Amino acid sequence: MKPSRAAGRLTPAPENFLDAGQIAAVQAGRREFLRGAFLAAAAAIAAPEAEAATQAGDPAILELPEHSRGLGQPVVARGYGLPSQFEKNLQRRESPGLTRVGAASVSFAPLQGLFGIITPSGLHFERHHQGWWDIDPSRHRLMVMGMVRQAKVYTMDDLMRLPAVSRMHFIECGANTAMEWGNVSVPTVQYTHGMLSCCEFTGVKLATLLDDCGFDRRNGRFVLAEGADGSSLTRTLSMERALDDGMVAWAMNGEMLRPENGYPLRLVAPGIQGVSWVKWLRRIEVGDQPWGTKDEVVHYVDLMPDGTLRQYTSIQECKSVITSPSGGQFLLDKGFYNVTGLAWSGRGRVKRVDVSADGGRNWRTARIESPVLPKCLTRFNIDWVWDGGPAILQSRAIDETGYVQPKISQLRAVRGKRSIYHNNAIQSWKVAESGEVSNAQVY
Ligand code: MTE
Repeated sequence: MKPSRAAGRLTPAPENFLDAGQIAAVQAGRREFLRGAFLAAAAAIAAPEAEAATQAGDPAILELPEHSRGLGQPVVARGYGLPSQFEKNLQRRESPGLTRVGAASVSFAPLQGLFGIITPSGLHFERHHQGWWDIDPSRHRLMVMGMVRQAKVYTMDDLMRLPAVSRMHFIECGANTAMEWGNVSVPTVQYTHGMLSCCEFTGVKLATLLDDCGFDRRNGRFVLAEGADGSSLTRTLSMERALDDGMVAWAMNGEMLRPENGYPLRLVAPGIQGVSWVKWLRRIEVGDQPWGTKDEVVHYVDLMPDGTLRQYTSIQECKSVITSPSGGQFLLDKGFYNVTGLAWSGRGRVKRVDVSADGGRNWRTARIESPVLPKCLTRFNIDWVWDGGPAILQSRAIDETGYVQPKISQLRAVRGKRSIYHNNAIQSWKVAESGEVSNAQVY
């Protein structure tokens, strides 16, 4: 079994974990290979290239491969472009045994292998309550009703004639990181934090639609959104949030939504937990109080230590995670590494991210990469020289409201250990002397 080091990443498949012996063998083998190949090439070639390769210690560059000598493939004249065959390992994955039926399940985004802040559409996480559908857009309708002057039914063509906007936002399921409330339970960042994605969405502002129907500005304080799938998922949104940046979107990352992400129409509710981003959106109702539907009264609520359920805590608080190095990866040699990760806040922009390599005793401020947008993922990077000893990597984000991402012990002090949703605690990755990186909890 060989680890993949494509594009400088250390991303063995989650199921391909190497034990300490295998890691040592890979490391020794790699050094041996380089030394042998280097001596052979240096003996055979006496040229400036050989000298440069000698200095660089990498003789493979001296052999001109087939692709530098022959004719390449013709243009892909038709069809949809696909990733390289060497990137096949980068996939959404299901957590085995998490749910009993695949139609009411989750597939997690492979955060460990992504760059920048945009999630490619084919790797966007999925969460369905009752399976997904590929709905014919010519038959899809959206009804706006309730406390409005005139109820309306829109076709997709009607909607796409309205003034459109494009915005980049993260979506995070309220259940992301749920399995870590008690103890460490899953091995990789894909499973701890992979119910998270970030895309550019295009659609019409909810405010535009509500205006178009003449909603009751005085008494219309809430909006209900309903999906067209069998689960009839329904969620209440406050009018304030709906008018602020709510959007009815048909496009994601420059193309129509993918069927599993709500094609042809979904609600975009920036900063609010994923369940409120109703897919296959078919109905919007304006009302004067929350509806208290099954999807908000007993699900996506916080089980408090005294046994009560806290409802409507829907904003995704400030959070961050190091995506590389992260659980399931391993460091081949000591020396320089770029530690990278993602930070986000449902309340606005990320202001700062600090990184610790010693379990939270000392912190350094990471470089935040632009763009830094409200309710959007923010990429951070920081230089790190691994001395070959044990280390614990952590990141801690602070948003523009001044809110600081908590430790798991701080969260548990308020919420207890039996909660499921809204775990935004600092994540720890333990680096062993062998170079193996694993999930750990630091209190
Ligand atoms: N909308 C409908 N109609 N049906 C669903 O099952 N799942 C919700 C939400 N919208 C769901 C839905 C949940 S729980 C989440 S986290 C997000 O969609 C996930 O969106 P995604 O599948 O595009 O990642």
